[in-house]
Amino acid sequence: KRALNIVKIKKMKQEGNPITMITAYDYPSAKLAEEADIDIILVGDSLGNVVLGYDSTIPVTLDDMVYHSRSVARGAEHTFIVTDLPFMTYHGSIDETLRNVRRLMQEGHAHAVKMEGGAEIATTVQTIVQAGVPVLGHIGLTPQSVNQIGGYRIQGKDEPDARRLIKDAKALEQAGAFAIVLELVAEEVAAAISAEISIPTIGIGAGRGCDGQVLVYHDVLKYTSEYREKRFVKTYANIGDQIRSGISEYVKEVKTRVFPGEDHVFAAEEGVLDQLYG
Ligand code: KIV
Ligand code: NA
Repeated sequence: KRALNIVKIKKMKQEGNPITMITAYDYPSAKLAEEADIDIILVGDSLGNVVLGYDSTIPVTLDDMVYHSRSVARGAEHTFIVTDLPFMTYHGSIDETLRNVRRLMQEGHAHAVKMEGGAEIATTVQTIVQAGVPVLGHIGLTPQSVNQIGGYRIQGKDEPDARRLIKDAKALEQAGAFAIVLELVAEEVAAAISAEISIPTIGIGAGRGCDGQVLVYHDVLKYTSEYREKRFVKTYANIGDQIRSGISEYVKEVKTRVFPGEDHVFAAEEGVLDQLYG
């Protein structure tokens, strides 16, 4: 199997072939996603929430992203990998931005980077694309700006907001982005954006009119103990419950001396104890 590339990804929109994307954060999650035939793996800065235990993506650093991205790359050698540029790593000088992109590509082994924002970051997107790095855009609810947006609310519900999103999508397309993530966008507006641009849209909580879908690994699998229902998520497994009950069974068996059993132990050569204590 060979990894997709941005030419093939863009063609999937023309062919009406839905693009599948899931996040992954380490070697086993990436390997399992690849074995499940996912089109694209996103090393999302959502790792701040689901892996590092922060309550937003804002504390996530570039070092965190490099570390997780290269773990993912080791697990998914045949899958197209996009890695998030985290909070405030693409808003300083263009030199600093390019240095950060270089680290995600060379040290994190990403094939592309994702960044949040619309028209206001179009010039930056264009410079990165001109450097030979594919860029995935991300508009709608952009979690790195949650303190400015004032919460995790649905975007594009009214006319001015919908108009702003369409303008942002076109600016990113113009800047050379190969696709755009639409997060928490009203379904009709996400469909309109998808129809108005030639590059694919990949939705999360953005309805049925997008060219692809993305979900967070831990949401798909219910891989957590304090799961909060989200309307836009569908869960396909209940891994958190399985992990908890597996570990508690292990604890119980050690406490009751059921484990280790006969099958799990190693015998010394015959007579060793006689030789030792004669
Ligand atoms: O970090 C992430 O997981 C994301 C997706 C929700 C698109 O950016
Ligand atoms: Na993200």
